[in-house]
Amino acid sequence: MKLSEKQFKRSMMCGEVGLEQVNQNITLYGWVQKRRNLGGLIFLDLRDRTGIVQVALDPQSQPEAFAEAEKLRSEYVVGVRGLVQHRPEGQENTAMATGMIEVQATDLIMLNSAETPPFYIVPNVNADETLRLKYRYLDLRRPDIQNAIITRHHITKTIRDYLYNHGFLEIETPILNKSTPEGARDYLVPSRVNRGTFYALPQSPQIFKQLLMIGGYDRYYQIARCFRDEDLRADRQPEFTQIDIEMSFINEHDIQVVAEGMVKNTFKEILSVDLGQEEFPRMTYDEAMAKYGSDKPDIRFAMEMVDVAPAFMQSEFKVFKNVLESKGAIKALTVKGQQFSRKQIDGFTEYVKRYGAQGLVWLAYNEEGIRSSVAKFLSQEEIDHVAQLADAQSGDTVFIIASKIETVNKSLGALRLKLGSELALIDESKWAFLWVVDFPLFEYDEEQGRFMASHHPFTMPHAADLEHLISDPGRVKARAYDLVLNGVEIGGGSIRIHKQDIQEKMFTALGFTLEDAKSQFGFFIDALRYGTPPHGGIAFGLDRLVMEMLHLANIRDVIAFPKTTSASSLMSGAPNTVSAKQLAELYIDTVK
Ligand code: AMO
Repeated sequence: MKLSEKQFKRSMMCGEVGLEQVNQNITLYGWVQKRRNLGGLIFLDLRDRTGIVQVALDPQSQPEAFAEAEKLRSEYVVGVRGLVQHRPEGQENTAMATGMIEVQATDLIMLNSAETPPFYIVPNVNADETLRLKYRYLDLRRPDIQNAIITRHHITKTIRDYLYNHGFLEIETPILNKSTPEGARDYLVPSRVNRGTFYALPQSPQIFKQLLMIGGYDRYYQIARCFRDEDLRADRQPEFTQIDIEMSFINEHDIQVVAEGMVKNTFKEILSVDLGQEEFPRMTYDEAMAKYGSDKPDIRFAMEMVDVAPAFMQSEFKVFKNVLESKGAIKALTVKGQQFSRKQIDGFTEYVKRYGAQGLVWLAYNEEGIRSSVAKFLSQEEIDHVAQLADAQSGDTVFIIASKIETVNKSLGALRLKLGSELALIDESKWAFLWVVDFPLFEYDEEQGRFMASHHPFTMPHAADLEHLISDPGRVKARAYDLVLNGVEIGGGSIRIHKQDIQEKMFTALGFTLEDAKSQFGFFIDALRYGTPPHGGIAFGLDRLVMEMLHLANIRDVIAFPKTTSASSLMSGAPNTVSAKQLAELYIDTVK
């Protein structure tokens, strides 16, 4: 007798069927992964988000179900009722979680047909990412994407539980906000009701979480969506998610303890990785820049940069001489026991040029002395001095870049990472956490010709540097910290300014007049006057944390509906043009 749709009630999920269900009747729903006709029988691989199970249909005993099954193609949606049986001997599949059993179907109901998908719904599919993003709903059916999305769910839940257990309150903050300067570019939303005015989408809930501290909601967190109109990269999305945290009456160590506890608990629960009792190591920003040329060093391998300028104080080599005269830097990396071909070195030279370096000097030390593109410009004394500073012996190669300090750090830092990965120096099994602390409070912006807040304008300066806030902003250090994992910044935060006079000084240092500051941040400056507690916090990039935990290289793989690097959705077509009527309602003229 044919069962109707109503009589089907799912009893379990496909991936959960095992030996315990043998001789039981079960009902499953799912998508047809594959249909095979074999020896007069039909075999279906039935898939849902928990896995795949084999269903067998016999024309003799179940002619109706068999006839239905003959119509099935990949991705058709079906309901199946049947008896779980051991697979016949020799037909078990140990590679499959459900590989010991099969479901001998007694009833089958086809719920929907499907067009042939534009790519196979399999792990590691060999399909262009643009095609996958266009049909994201099909891509989401693939097990590797499902694993990332489901693991992300578990990570979020673990974090919520941890913070709940540590007395944190989850509080939402507005999405339609006032635009404030600093940071990245805002996404703006025009207001229909208030002609000519705009809301900004939050770049982070920063001001609101501080206002919550002023409001007395000590220990706040939020899994918060943030929006930034900035250049996108493999680990950046225009909308991304933060685990946003703020606490009152604490110092930076208290926040770091909570953050570490949360991370350690998440690694234990999700990956069964024990990150140990010890606190994560700490390194100052200055040390990170000096040794790794980066504020997010990958410390899974050594190969630290060294300053070799002292070797070239009297150099006749024009490039070095000019750089030193203009107060630039000369730094080196030593690759132990490795000599490179000209072709490899040309490749490295091209690579560092992308980061602004004009060239790459190399010295290959050997028994006879050195091989080098610039050998004829260097004295033996200089060659020996470099060897001593850079700890180079026969068999080693030293790479040197001379330029402005920022360029040297950027390009040599990038070369360090490239060498680390190409020479397999990175231990991929390591989880190298590092707190980078004592960031500069300001960065000088050449374009704008003024100092900008390195983090955001509410970051507390070190008490000892307060007196230099106006007179010498460049030397002021911040009570700010980032958490780095394997060379990726997964979180950042700071102790905030809770005193109105310091906040006003900060705005002056940033070049705002008091009027500017009042019009942009007035409500916040006002709030500081009403008994603001000392406070601070941190925000983690949830997407990045998930990416790192799953060893994924692309942030899009951990977001259900991501945007491309040009901030568009290939599936929906957002952003799109809108009707003249909609624009008129918003009083907007578009530039043609
Ligand atoms: P920050 O700007 O450092 O700090 O952001 C915190 C963390 O968010 C992640 N992140 C991103 N992830 C994906 N795509 C992006 N475009 C992106 N931008 C940032 C990073 C980063 O470490 N309000 C402060 C936090 C605080 O001080 O408490 C803030 O937003 O992992």
